[in-house]
Amino acid sequence: EKGGFEHFMLKEIYEQPRSVHDTLRGRVSAKQGHLVLGGLRQYLHTMINAKRIIILGCGTSWHAGLVAEYIFEEFARIPVEVEYASEFRYRNPVIYEGDVVIAISQSGETADTLAAIELAKSKGAIIFGVCNVVGSSIPRVTHEGAYTHAGPEIGVASTKAFTAQVTVLSMMAVMIAYRKGTIKETRFREMLVEFEQLPDKIEKALQLDQQIQYIAEQIKDADNALFLGRGYNFPVALEGALKLKEISYIHAEGYPAAEMKHGPIALIDEAMPVVFIATQDSSYEKIISNIREVKARHGKVIAVVTEGDAEIRHMADHVLEVPAAHEALMPIIAVIPLQLLSYHIAVMRGCNVDQPRNLAKSVTVE
Ligand code: M6R
Repeated sequence: EKGGFEHFMLKEIYEQPRSVHDTLRGRVSAKQGHLVLGGLRQYLHTMINAKRIIILGCGTSWHAGLVAEYIFEEFARIPVEVEYASEFRYRNPVIYEGDVVIAISQSGETADTLAAIELAKSKGAIIFGVCNVVGSSIPRVTHEGAYTHAGPEIGVASTKAFTAQVTVLSMMAVMIAYRKGTIKETRFREMLVEFEQLPDKIEKALQLDQQIQYIAEQIKDADNALFLGRGYNFPVALEGALKLKEISYIHAEGYPAAEMKHGPIALIDEAMPVVFIATQDSSYEKIISNIREVKARHGKVIAVVTEGDAEIRHMADHVLEVPAAHEALMPIIAVIPLQLLSYHIAVMRGCNVDQPRNLAKSVTVE
């Protein structure tokens, strides 16, 4: 059942070229210039005209929501608020009739997310679900939705569900932006090609496995780790840190790289591994200065970079090269080496990767 892999988590990491392909199937065709989401019809115009979008989720699903915030705002020019479902539901939030809520959940059973949906719905919001488990509770209470089609995810650490969620949310953003006229035909077509290239690029990122095992060996005994990214890669930093702490029990923090000098920089010394997600995008020059700041304090830098990057190689202790992609879709590729890194570190530390202590696959109690 683990298909020859030692753990479900590793199997699921390796499934991602296939699962993202399944997420895209029947929805994107660059050749025909079309992008359709069967579950977004009746409320498509509501979304196009939305004054704002509220995104709800927990854990990794919340991280996927953060990536979506960047792409919805940049492409579709709709203001987005991303909220932890647990906070949203208890703080008497301001919800207007006709507000659009996107609820993200792999299991479709997370108690806080479900309750937050019910609350928003009772105030007149339109709820769109992005779930993986077909027929689960959340899809039954939403107005419309799109399944992620990643297939069953057994490992407690979410991997293929995250890449599928970001893929669906990005498709939504691109589709809404195009219909709304905030992106032009050329950009739209360019993004369709980018979507179709994702499975091959993920496949390439998986080939870093040997190199990642070597890096894991070097840092497996650390007590702390820092993950830093900017822009679209900031949520990837959060996700990398969450993966590491939940399965290896190493304390890890994810931060927007620029926030480092407002506190976390004090933690940096030669015993602190700092993982940068530093692909060539609009914040590239900025993140290079952040890498310099860490090196100046003798931190151990592991950098996820774009293939062929000549600059960071000379600064970082280790570089992991991933294929170039449009920056909005880079999280789907850049997260792969971070999943593998946590996995190998956890295995080396003798942890129960698929069933970490104190955690359940779906959190059905608040
Ligand atoms: O099933 P959901 O997506 O609603 O679950 C949300 C979180 O419980 C989940 O992402 C959790 O944080 C994972 N263990 C992260 O790997």
